[in-house]
Amino acid sequence: MDSEIKKVMVSREEIYETVKRVGREITEDYKDKIPLFVGILKGAVPFLADLIRVCDLDLEIDFMSVKSYGSSSKSTGEVRILKDLDYSVQGKDIIIVEDIIDSGYTLKYLKTNMIARGAKSVRIAAFLDKAARRVVDIDADYVGKKIENEFIVGYGMDYAEKWRGLADICALKNEVYEK
Ligand code: IMP
Ligand code: MG
Repeated sequence: MDSEIKKVMVSREEIYETVKRVGREITEDYKDKIPLFVGILKGAVPFLADLIRVCDLDLEIDFMSVKSYGSSSKSTGEVRILKDLDYSVQGKDIIIVEDIIDSGYTLKYLKTNMIARGAKSVRIAAFLDKAARRVVDIDADYVGKKIENEFIVGYGMDYAEKWRGLADICALKNEVYEK
């Protein structure tokens, strides 16, 4: 294993079982709808790709890329859109798909933004939830796993653009992101 990785937090097998469970919940809730899954680039790409294949639904996908300001391991609350959606969300049932919810600033901004653009409904699916770190009042409607306060990489998640391709979700050694 890479010397900067502390430990595996969620194995690839557990990731797959978790995605299937979230997929069943979404399938049940959106039976007669055609939800638009909005993947938040870049971290949510593996989760979105796995999730849409385990949901037994007619669905659509689109992507947004946002940047939340602050240091690379801590966000400040100011969010800017780097890449916007291709199509309007007016009247659509949106499921925002995120890798991880931490302070909550990013998802709070995105949810408010979708509602302001006329989405019919907006829910959030986050693979990981660092609930202890929440600053703003927002929760995901579908959570893969709650996770303790570690800096996470793999399954799309990065530190300074590194480790997104790891198949397991891992915790980074503290000295890597604290230096
Ligand atoms: P929030 O706005 O603080 O909730 O942060 C959400 C975004 O910060 C996520 O979409 C991730 O891109 C990033 N993030 C938060 N915690 C971690 C982590 O432990 N590892 C990698 N990225 C993280
Ligand atoms: Mg992200």
